[in-house]
Amino acid sequence: MTPTAGNTCDVIIIGGGAAGLMCALTAGRRGLRVRVVEHANRVGKKILMSGGGRCNFTNTGTSPANFLSANPHFCKSALARYTPWHFIDMVERHRIAYHEKELGQLFCDVSSKLIVKMLVDECTDADVHIETSCSIEQVHHDDDGSSHGNFRLKTTRGTLRAPKLVVASGGLSIPSMGATGFGYDLARRFGHDVLPTRAGLVPLTLSGKHQERMADLSGVSLPVTASCNGQSFSNAMLVTHRGISGPAILQISSYWQPGDDLRLDLLPGEDALEWLQHQQAERPAAELKTVLGEVLPKRFAQRLCEVWLPGNPAHRPMRQFNLPQLRELAQVIESWPLVASGTEGYRTAEVTLGGVDTNGLSSSTMESRHVPGLYFIGEVVDVTGWLGGYNFQWAWASGHAAGLAV
Ligand code: FDA
Repeated sequence: MTPTAGNTCDVIIIGGGAAGLMCALTAGRRGLRVRVVEHANRVGKKILMSGGGRCNFTNTGTSPANFLSANPHFCKSALARYTPWHFIDMVERHRIAYHEKELGQLFCDVSSKLIVKMLVDECTDADVHIETSCSIEQVHHDDDGSSHGNFRLKTTRGTLRAPKLVVASGGLSIPSMGATGFGYDLARRFGHDVLPTRAGLVPLTLSGKHQERMADLSGVSLPVTASCNGQSFSNAMLVTHRGISGPAILQISSYWQPGDDLRLDLLPGEDALEWLQHQQAERPAAELKTVLGEVLPKRFAQRLCEVWLPGNPAHRPMRQFNLPQLRELAQVIESWPLVASGTEGYRTAEVTLGGVDTNGLSSSTMESRHVPGLYFIGEVVDVTGWLGGYNFQWAWASGHAAGLAV
């Protein structure tokens, strides 16, 4: 149905992404008349591109500790009331085959299209009206003095009215997919603070000599422990044309800002000095580059010797290193002094950190403390998950909380 002037419903949801669709189907199931207004030509574009096309739709280990927010307690209530198992239940009802990849991360066996179809089918069953290719020109709030004023949206397809407005317009990541700062602007207009935003779960870039030293290693991958500002992640690191990426780097990028000390341990789980001493005792005639090349990719081991270890000791036999020299090697291996210059930014970031300040929202309903009837859910809120299905779980949980409350 196309909206016409004065078209009224119970709830308008801005944004047909993960959070908006979950909110819509939850409110629709309660018998409410729900409209989703989506400016892109289809809903759920980020779901479609997620998890390499297989959508890492949740993480069975989800806990509040997996999220960044100025108020780490804010996400607790919604996450506790809509758990990964609630979403898995829906996935199983729709007979979508899935598997666990690692660390509780659940992916579709076939395609993320099935998750979008499931959400749209649930919305259809609940009589939700979804308007795609519909842009919002103005949002008015007619405060009629009652506790619930009316929201009036002028869109490219007519005017819509409702007593409840849910903002689910997402963050700034991947502008080519329809991401906008719309939700942040709207929040400010209605008196909300918006905490500074920046790209998260994003590759780090190198510049100058650091980039020159790494550029031809593009494609090389190795396990590392990446640490910054008190947080550590052990997983793969991938060298790219512009810098470094891979799960360990994407994870730590959310905790890193230019100028911060990034620590990369190239022998995760090992004491590098003990390991070197053991190698020296076992294989005194072996060259350092051979020994390192057994635990690191060979080209990487060679480069490490050439440019990061004093005096390029690649061909020196292990027996020729004295203890202070082994200590020096261990120091570089455990704390590889690579300096990142920045991030690839919103163009490739999976998420946006910061956003609508949770101080202005109810943690159980996501309703604004300033404007009754106004709600913010999903990525637009200052709650950002780690890599691994946590961001969708926040979208489902916050969408569900608002869907029950509107
Ligand atoms: P989302 O961005 O999904 O939806 C917002 C919607 O609002 C969009 O459809 C947008 O077009 C619309 N919109 C914006 N402005 C509007 C306006 N002015 N008017 C109308 N509509 C408007 N997470 C995870 O848990 N597992 C994963 O596998 C991945 N993989 C992944 C891959 C890539 C490449 C990216 C970029 C991101 C991920 N993520 C992820 C993160 C995940 O996609 C993200 O956290 C959720 O989609 C956030 O859901 P929201 O509904 O809040 O925003």
